[in-house]
Amino acid sequence: MIRIAAVGDVHVDKDVVGRYRPALEELPARADALLVAGDLTRHGTPEEARCFAKEFGGLAVPVIVVLGNHDHQSDQQDEVAEVLTDAGITVLEGEATVLEIRGHRLGVAGTKGFGGGFAGACASNFGEREMKDFVATTERYAEALTNALNSVQADALVALTHYAPVPETLVGEPLEIYPFLGCYQLGRSIDSAPTALALHGHAHHGAERGRTPGGVPVRNVAHPVIKQAYNVYQLLSEEVDATLIAVR
Ligand SMILES: [Fe+2]
Repeated sequence: MIRIAAVGDVHVDKDVVGRYRPALEELPARADALLVAGDLTRHGTPEEARCFAKEFGGLAVPVIVVLGNHDHQSDQQDEVAEVLTDAGITVLEGEATVLEIRGHRLGVAGTKGFGGGFAGACASNFGEREMKDFVATTERYAEALTNALNSVQADALVALTHYAPVPETLVGEPLEIYPFLGCYQLGRSIDSAPTALALHGHAHHGAERGRTPGGVPVRNVAHPVIKQAYNVYQLLSEEVDATLIAVR
């Protein structure tokens, strides 16, 4: 069995440093890796990235992240990624990484993703150039996830995104903003590979559990949804959801 800890939308700035650390110090006893589903910072500045690295870096287990829309807010996402990488954190964008865990290969493929909406209520590639550009962005991120997921051989494969791949985990959010919270194309990407689990964030008022059309378990790990420092999920196991543990 492989145990992965996951959280998203931690929005770290200097005022947040220290809030997660006590629970994170205990993480290596509970999980084999930590995955963070974007919105690591509040406004995407290198200074905030350093705060995130201080809070979430230097753990005794690998830390793998994707960026979120907040991490793009200052147009310094490349600098943000560099700060994190320098701190030993793996930043995925259209890429995959493989970890060896007790003789098993854990593959993690990640992208920020983008909005676009879901079946019956999605943006379409028609009309103004701006709308075509919007849909092309959606498609580009989804294609990057498809390629990343299919680029690795692993015993257990996880998809890590910021935007949601299914509408089920958005339940609780206003219907009107679903197209800005995720897109069906990410779900299609997840179903294009033997994905064991899909993790995302972004929807603070959504629900934790969903499933892709192909049957892959989806978990919204946004901090306001899971209400603790991280959840633990089990791979190569009968049950994806580990017994809830109190790690505020
Ligand atoms: Fe977000």
